[in-house]
Amino acid sequence: MIDVRHVSKIYLQGKREIRALSDVSFKLEQGEFLSIMGASGSGKSTLLNLIGGLDQPNEGEIFIDGSPLHGISDDALTLIRRRKVGFVFQFFNLLPILTAEENVALPLLLDGVPFAQIRNKTVGLLERVGLGARTKHRPEQLSGGEMQRVAIARALVTDPAVLLADEPTGNLDSHISEEILGLLQTLHRAGQTVVMVTHDARAASYGERIIKLKDGGIIEDIAVSGRAS
Ligand SMILES: Nc1ncnc2c1ncn2[C@@H]1O[C@H](COP(=O)(O)OP(=O)(O)O)[C@@H](O)[C@H]1O
Ligand SMILES: [Mg+2]
Repeated sequence: MIDVRHVSKIYLQGKREIRALSDVSFKLEQGEFLSIMGASGSGKSTLLNLIGGLDQPNEGEIFIDGSPLHGISDDALTLIRRRKVGFVFQFFNLLPILTAEENVALPLLLDGVPFAQIRNKTVGLLERVGLGARTKHRPEQLSGGEMQRVAIARALVTDPAVLLADEPTGNLDSHISEEILGLLQTLHRAGQTVVMVTHDARAASYGERIIKLKDGGIIEDIAVSGRAS
């Protein structure tokens, strides 16, 4: 499903090279819930962005659902990004002038699907994330947890092969965080492949597998056994 092969990423800051990832390799099967855990600066977001095709590695190769993310045109990469991955971020990244429903619909609108065709889908997804009564609310009328639910619905609207979440609870208090993590777990149990990045061990434990990153390298890759909840 996801195949990361010997990936390295170096950022240039002026003349200084910052090695964000060094020779990272792992495979993810369809339906897994992987947590990528590490301290701030360990390369988590860099890795997630590479998997999502938002950026390109300096070395190595990444395949999603059999499609290579290298050696393809920008248009092809855009289509993969639009159709195969769904992104969820720490600060939700909702458009403030759009309602919840319109925010969720946006990826399909950008893909040229008529609004009439996608209305059932957006409302259905908002119901699935527990926001069936908030479809016409704008982000400022929603709590942080509700905004993140909208963002998760938006990420799922294209039926992505994988849901990629970067510190999805980083801006939420602990009670709301557990609700959001529980929602990700519910989606996973319904078959959704999930990759979540977090610096928080408790959040990471919601995954069924944890890869630990340190200084841009994998230092541990473990199966989580028998989480109680
Ligand atoms: N666009 C960038 N330009 C330069 N350095 C960057 C950039 N993005 C990340 N880095 C650096 O790469 C390293 C890994 O960053 P990042 O992947 O954001 O880590 P994490 O998400 O684990 O906090 C850090 O040293 C960070 O400062
Ligand atoms: Mg990060």
